[in-house]
Amino acid sequence: MLETVVKRDIDLGTPEVTSDKLITVTIDGYDISVPEGTSVMRAAALNGVNIPKLCATDSIEAFGSCRLCLVEIEGRRGYPASCTTPVEEGMVIRTETPKLHQLRRGVMELYISDHPLDCLTCPSNGDCELQDMAGVVGLRNVRYGYEGANHLKDQKDESNPYFTYDPSKCIVCNRCVRACEETQGTFALTISGKGFASRVSAGQDQAFMDSECVSCGACVQACPTATLEDKSIIELGQADHAVITTCAYCGVGCGFKAEMKGETVVRMTPWKDGKANRGHSCVKGRFAWGYTTHKERITKPMIRKSIADPWTEVSWDEAIGYAASEFKRLQDKYGRDSVGGITSSRCTNEETWLVQKLVRAAFNTNNVDTCARVCHSPTGYGLKSTLGESAGTQTFDSVMFTDVVIVMGANPSAAHPVFASRLKKRLRQGARLIVIDPRQTELVSSPHIRADYHLQVRPGTNVALLSAMSHVIATENLINLDFVRARCEGKAFQEWLDFVSQPENSPEAMEAETGVPAEQIRGAARLFATGGNGSIYYGLGVTEHSQGSTTVMAIANLAMATGNIGREGVGVNPLRGQNNVQGSCDMGSFPHELPGYRHISDDVTRHDFEKAWNVTLQSEPGLRIPNMFDAALEGTFKGLYCQGEDIVQSDPNTQHVAASLSAMECVVIQDIFLNETAKYAHVFLPGSTFLEKDGTFTNAERRISRVRKVMEPASGMADWEITCALSNALGYPMNYNHPSEIMDEIAALTPTFTGVSFDLITQMGSVQWPCNDAAPEGTPIMHIDEFVRGKGKFMITKYIPTDERSTRKFPLLFTTGRILSQYNVGAQTRRTPNVAWHSEDVLEIHPVDAEDRGISQGDWVGIQSRAGETVLRADVTTRVQPGVVYTTFHFPESGANVVTTDNSDWATNCPEYKVTAVQVTRVTQPSAWQHKWSEFNREQRALLKNRVTMDETPVTG
Ligand code: SF4
Ligand code: SF4
Ligand code: SF4
Ligand code: FES
Repeated sequence: MLETVVKRDIDLGTPEVTSDKLITVTIDGYDISVPEGTSVMRAAALNGVNIPKLCATDSIEAFGSCRLCLVEIEGRRGYPASCTTPVEEGMVIRTETPKLHQLRRGVMELYISDHPLDCLTCPSNGDCELQDMAGVVGLRNVRYGYEGANHLKDQKDESNPYFTYDPSKCIVCNRCVRACEETQGTFALTISGKGFASRVSAGQDQAFMDSECVSCGACVQACPTATLEDKSIIELGQADHAVITTCAYCGVGCGFKAEMKGETVVRMTPWKDGKANRGHSCVKGRFAWGYTTHKERITKPMIRKSIADPWTEVSWDEAIGYAASEFKRLQDKYGRDSVGGITSSRCTNEETWLVQKLVRAAFNTNNVDTCARVCHSPTGYGLKSTLGESAGTQTFDSVMFTDVVIVMGANPSAAHPVFASRLKKRLRQGARLIVIDPRQTELVSSPHIRADYHLQVRPGTNVALLSAMSHVIATENLINLDFVRARCEGKAFQEWLDFVSQPENSPEAMEAETGVPAEQIRGAARLFATGGNGSIYYGLGVTEHSQGSTTVMAIANLAMATGNIGREGVGVNPLRGQNNVQGSCDMGSFPHELPGYRHISDDVTRHDFEKAWNVTLQSEPGLRIPNMFDAALEGTFKGLYCQGEDIVQSDPNTQHVAASLSAMECVVIQDIFLNETAKYAHVFLPGSTFLEKDGTFTNAERRISRVRKVMEPASGMADWEITCALSNALGYPMNYNHPSEIMDEIAALTPTFTGVSFDLITQMGSVQWPCNDAAPEGTPIMHIDEFVRGKGKFMITKYIPTDERSTRKFPLLFTTGRILSQYNVGAQTRRTPNVAWHSEDVLEIHPVDAEDRGISQGDWVGIQSRAGETVLRADVTTRVQPGVVYTTFHFPESGANVVTTDNSDWATNCPEYKVTAVQVTRVTQPSAWQHKWSEFNREQRALLKNRVTMDETPVTG
C-alpha cells in the first residue's frame, strides 16, 4: 500500500527559534506561550491562526516587505508586520480587524494590478500563495485597472532545463533571493532596479544558465507564485498525491516528496521534515529523475551464450532458470568457490542483504563484495580499529555547533551539496575552516566564505600531513589530556605520542613530501586544537590511497587527541559517495564479515545465522572484488552475480576488469541500463529504480530512511523479488511477501538494528543506528561516554610513500573526482538534462604544466600511465596545483580508469584512484583504447538493438 502525504507543507511563516525562556502573549483572545524570539506570525500559526503573508516562509528569515501580515498590538502605534515582530511578554495582539482587512485588501489590489489574470491556465493554479491570499483577504475588484505601467510583457527566461523564470508574475517578495543566500549559500540572485523597476536578476542580469546558479531548486521551492516554476509542472500539471521517499543519489540521503499524478511523477520536492536535508535539495535529487522512465531502460530479461551473440528476450522464469543452471554447472565443474556476487551501494538495505545471503547460503561461499570496496572500505577498517565502529559519529545537524571544521579530501559542494549548504551556513556564522585538498575546491573560496587554511597537499601524502599536524599538537602541549586519560587506552596513546613527537614527523621535516609550507601546517594544527568544537569531514580523497586506512586512523587519532568526539559539533564524519554505501557495508557485503561487521570466523555469530538461515556457512573469508578479477584470469573464478554496479567503468584498470569478465563463463547483471559491465554479460536481469520498490537506504549519518514505491516496476519485478527468485531456483528457499519482512530479519540478526522496522521508521521519519535496548529510537551521536570498543585506541600511522610516484617518464600526478551535475559513472545523470552542465569529462591542468607542453584551453591531450592511455580535452586552470592533473569519471568513453592502476590500500584493497603517475601530451586523436571501446560499444549496442524478442522478431529502432 502506498503511504501518501499531503501535497502542501504547513508553513509557520518564520523559522523555529530555540530558547528555554517562554513568553506568553494573547492572540485574538487566546493566551499562547512560545520560546523567546519567536515572531508573532509563528506564534499565531503554531496555535492555528494563519495570518495572511506573502514574503514570509518558515525556511528563511523574515524580511517584512509585502505588508500583508500586519497586525494590531495594544499599546503600539501603527500596524506592525507580524513576521518581523518578535513576541514580548504580555503582548495583546489582534490579527483580524476591519482596519487590517482594509489594509490587506489594498496591498493585494496593488499586487494584482500588475499580475496577469490567467489563473485558470497558470501552471500554479491551485498551488499559488498569491491566489490563496486574494481569496483570504476577499479581493473582489482592483481599483487601479490594468492600463498603467506594468510588467505583463516581460520576457520569460527558459534557459534552465528544469525551471522557468516568468518576471511578469513576480511580486518581488525576495523569497528566492533569500533562499539562494540562506538555504543554498550560492548568492546567485539579486533584486535589480528600484521601486517599480525592481526585478529578480540572476548573476549580472544574466539568464539563469549563464549565472552562478547551480540549479538546487531552493528559489523555485520558495517562490509563492508561478514566477519560478518547474517545467515538469508546466508540462504535466499539478500532482494529485505525494509520497515520502529518499533520494537515490548521494550519501546525504535527502528526504523527498514524490509528487504524483497517478503513477507519473510530476515533481520531486525536498521533504521539509527530512532530517538529513531539512527541506533542501540539489540539482540531482530535485530534478534529475527523468532517467527512471528513459527510453533506454531495459525492461525484459535477456540471455545469450556468448558476448558475441545478440541478446534474446526471455520470460522471467527462463532467465532465472538459465542463470541458476549456469551457476550450478560452474560450481559442479570448477568447485564451490568458482562463483560469487557483488552487492550495490545504490540498492536498498533489503536488496543488499538478500544478495549477500544468496551468495553465502545458496552459493555457499563467502565470495561476496561490494562497490564500497572501491570507496569507503578504509573508513570501515580505520574507524573500527580506533573507535570501535565502522561509521561516522554525528548527525548532519551537528555541523551547526562546530567551531572549526577540517574538510579533507572531499568536495561537498559537488558531491554532497545539501550538506555543503549547511556547512556554509555555519561558516557564514563564523566557524573557521581548514581545507586539506590538492585542488582549490569551491569551499576554499566562495561567496562570503574563505578557508582560514588551504593545505594544498601533494596527492599521496595525507598521512605525512596529518602526522605533522599531530606533531604540532603533541609538541606544543595542545593535547586534551583530560579527554585522553579518561577515554583512551593509555599505552597506545603513549606510543602514538612518542611516535608523532619524533622530529621526522615535524611539519618542517614533512614539507618536502607534502608540498605544504610548515608554517601553514602549524597554524592549522593550532587552530584545530584550540578553536573550540572541532569536526572533521572527509571523503574519497582520504580513502582511495595506498594508505587510505592509515589516513582514516590518523584522522581518528587527531579527533581523540583534541577531545573532539562524543558531543554536538565535533566528530569524525566520512562523507559517503553513494546513497547506500553505509548500508551496503552494514548489511554484510564484505567477504570477511557477516552483517553488523562481525567476522565470518566468529563461531557464535556464524551459528546464529546458520540457525536462522537453516544452512551451514563457510567460515573462511571469500574473495574481494580485485581477487575475483585475478582468479578469473587464473581460470578459477567463472561466474558472477552483480547487482546495480558498473565495475567496468568504476573500478581501476579498466583493461584488467574487462579481461577478467571476458574470462568468466557466466556474468549475470541486474541493472536498469545496458551499462559497461552488462556489455560483458550473459544474463541481463532488468532492475528497478528507487521509485519502483520499497526498502530503506542508510546515509552517511547512519540514518535509515524509507524508500517507497510510487509506481510498479517497469520489468514487473522489484530487485528484491529477482534475488529471491534466483535463490529459489538455486534450491535455497527465499520467500518474503514484502521488504518489511526482510528488515525484520535484519533487525533480528543484527544487534545494531535491534527493533528497527518499517513501522518504526515511518513513525520517527528516520532512525539512526545503533538501535538497541538502551537506545530503542537510535543513536544520533556516537561514543558519548565511552567508545564502542570501550577505550579509544590511538594507532601508529607511519607514512609510507606510495610506489606510484612521479618519474621522468610520468612526471605528473593524476587524480579524479566528481562534479555537481553528474553522479558517479553517470548512468543516471547522463540520461537527464543535467548534461547541459557537464557533457564530457575534461582534464584540468595547471597553466605552467600546460605551457611546458604547448597545451592550450580545449586541446585534445593524451594521458599516459603505466596502466594505459586515454584522451580528453584540456581545461587549463589554477584549480589544480602545478604537477597535478585532475578529471572526473562520469562518461565511459573518457576512460579515466584506463589510466588508474591496480595499486590499492594495504588493509582493504581500496584502489589508489587518487594518485597515478602520468605524462600528458598534446594529441590529435583518441587513444587506441578509445578506438577499441567505440568499436566494442557499437557492436554491443547493435547486439542489443537486434535482440530477439519473445515472439522471435528482432527489435528495430
Ligand atoms: S536554483 Fe538554487 S542556486 Fe540557482 S538561483 Fe535558485 S536558489 Fe540559487
Ligand atoms: S521570483 Fe518568486 S520568490 Fe522571487 S521575488 Fe519574484 S515572486 Fe518572489
Ligand atoms: S544532496 Fe545528495 S541526497 Fe540530497 S538531493 Fe542531492 S544527490 Fe540527493
Ligand atoms: S509576510 Fe510579513 S511583511 Fe510579508
